[in-house]
Amino acid sequence: MIGGSHRGRFITFEGGEGAGKSTQIELLARHLRDGGVDVTSTREPGGTPKAERLREILLSGKIASLGPLAEATLFSAARIDHVDRLIEPTLARGGWVLSDRFADSTRAYQGARGGVSRRDIDLLERAAVGATAPDLTFILDLPPETGLARAAARRQIGVNVDRFEAENIDFHRSLRDAFLDIAARHPLRCCVIDATRSVAEVSQTIRDLIAVRLVDGVRRMAAQ
Ligand code: TYD
Repeated sequence: MIGGSHRGRFITFEGGEGAGKSTQIELLARHLRDGGVDVTSTREPGGTPKAERLREILLSGKIASLGPLAEATLFSAARIDHVDRLIEPTLARGGWVLSDRFADSTRAYQGARGGVSRRDIDLLERAAVGATAPDLTFILDLPPETGLARAAARRQIGVNVDRFEAENIDFHRSLRDAFLDIAARHPLRCCVIDATRSVAEVSQTIRDLIAVRLVDGVRRMAAQ
């Protein structure tokens, strides 16, 4: 198994509602495990017992009335536990972490969209993330109409609508712009993926990008 004395890799998946992040994470995790990589899949908000409890509060909308800065602070509090107790220890032992959302979501949802200043978001990010920045971020991009239709189809099979899915279409449009803006400002870390394509095509693109961007690290680790 790949892992051990070398630090692992941290890959995050971002995007609007219904972009297919969880499906892609599952497929990638299986692919990497088949290749002998020690993989941990996780999500935000959540990933640890304490952060999952904060998730319930955040997604219920109960603290929405406190405003986006309070929400951003609570998302960051959940992130601190997630980084300290799961992400950092996994990377330190040589494991790879795949996270369904991370700090870019706070920047897009509470920052660009919710109006929390860049300065405040930077401050929260420095506190919560510190040196544990992702090595690679996939931004699964698709028109919000398509994403919301997919999310609605998912709900028909019994999944409840959360506070953010319930926002209007303008919210989701500016969210998309916010993620594209993050990608443009961090071209070395972020890859924008056209998520309107089939699951198989998106998954292959992700594998190809990992091979190009991280494969040297994989080879080095495999050689240990
Ligand atoms: P989830 O059901 O995981 O949605 P999705 O399938 O779209 O990832 O719910 C997470 C929600 O929380 C999602 O609407 C995005 C939002 N969110 C923020 O607003 N800020 C954040 O920092 C994070 C991590 C998530």
